[in-house]
Amino acid sequence: MKKKLFITRKFPTHIVEPLQEYYEIEQWEEEEEVIPRDKLLSAVTDCEVLWVTIADQVDEELLSHAPILKLVTNLAVGFNNIDVKALRKRGIMATNTPGVLTNTTADLVFGLLLATARRIPESERYLREGKWKSWYPMQLVGKDVSGATIGIIGMGRIGQVVARRAKGFDMKILYNNRRRRHEAEEMYGFKYASLEELLKQSDFVVIMTPYNSDTVGLIGAEELALMKDDAVLINASRGGIIDEDALYHTLKNGKLWAAGLDVFEHEPIALDHPLLTLPNVVALPHIGSASLETRMAMFMLNVKALTAYGQDKAVSNRID
Ligand code: GLV
Repeated sequence: MKKKLFITRKFPTHIVEPLQEYYEIEQWEEEEEVIPRDKLLSAVTDCEVLWVTIADQVDEELLSHAPILKLVTNLAVGFNNIDVKALRKRGIMATNTPGVLTNTTADLVFGLLLATARRIPESERYLREGKWKSWYPMQLVGKDVSGATIGIIGMGRIGQVVARRAKGFDMKILYNNRRRRHEAEEMYGFKYASLEELLKQSDFVVIMTPYNSDTVGLIGAEELALMKDDAVLINASRGGIIDEDALYHTLKNGKLWAAGLDVFEHEPIALDHPLLTLPNVVALPHIGSASLETRMAMFMLNVKALTAYGQDKAVSNRID
C-alpha cells in the first residue's frame, strides 16, 4: 500500500505528479490561500508524510492530531514554523532547502540595500505622483553604498554571500556570529565585531541570523539607539528578530536613515501597520528566495527527500 502524503498548498502539477509513484497524495487546492488550521488538523490524522510551507505551524497541537506522521518537508531553509524538538521526541524526521536559495536571497538583500540607500521606491512614487517638476541638486539625495561599512549579523551561508557581494561594492565588512569564521576572515578580510561594536560602526546593518529563542527581539530600542542616525537596517531573515514598535519610533524620530524589510513579525503585515506610513521603509512581501529558478530548486530538494523516503532510502537535508 502507498504511503499517504498531504501537501498544504497547490504546488505545480509537474512537481507533484511524479511522487504518485510512491504516495497516495492529497493537497489543499489553493495556490495563494493558507489552509485553515482546522482543515490541516483533520488532514494530518492519517498521513505519514506532510509537505508544508512557512505559513504552516507544525507544533505540538498538530502532532497530537498526526499519530502516524514520520516525515515533514519544509519548502524553506528557515524552519521556525516547525517545533523540531517536538518532532524529535516522536522520532519524526524533518527536511528543509539549504544551499539552493543562498545567492537569490543575498541578491535581494542587495536590492534592499540599494533601494533604501538610494531611495529607489520613494523616487519612483515621486515620479508617478507627478512631483517631478525639474532636476535640482538636492532632489531625493540618498547615501552611498560604495565604500560604506556593512555589519552582518548571522554569518551563515547567506550572510557570507552577502559579504562577498559587499566586497564588490568596496565595503568594509564587519560580522557577528555565534562562531568565528576564521577562514572567511582570512580569505575575504571580514572582521569579527561584538554586536555592540557592529551596531555602532556600521552604515548598513543586515540581519541574516536564524530566528530562535536566542534571536527573538535581538534588535530592540537599546540596540537601535546604538546605530548611527544615518544607518540603514535590513532584515531578510525573520520578522520577530526586530522589535517593530521600537523600529517605528526610531525611524519616526529620525534616528535611522531607513529600513529595508522583507520579513515581518506577522505575515502578511497589516496594511495599517505604522511602519508602512514611513516613506523610508522599503517593505517587501517575503520574497527573499522568489526567483523562478530558485523556487524550482527548492521544490526539487523537497522532492528528493520525499522520493528517498518513498523508496525507503536515507533522506537528505534533514534538520531533525
Ligand atoms: C524563507 O524565508 C526561507 O526560510 O527559505
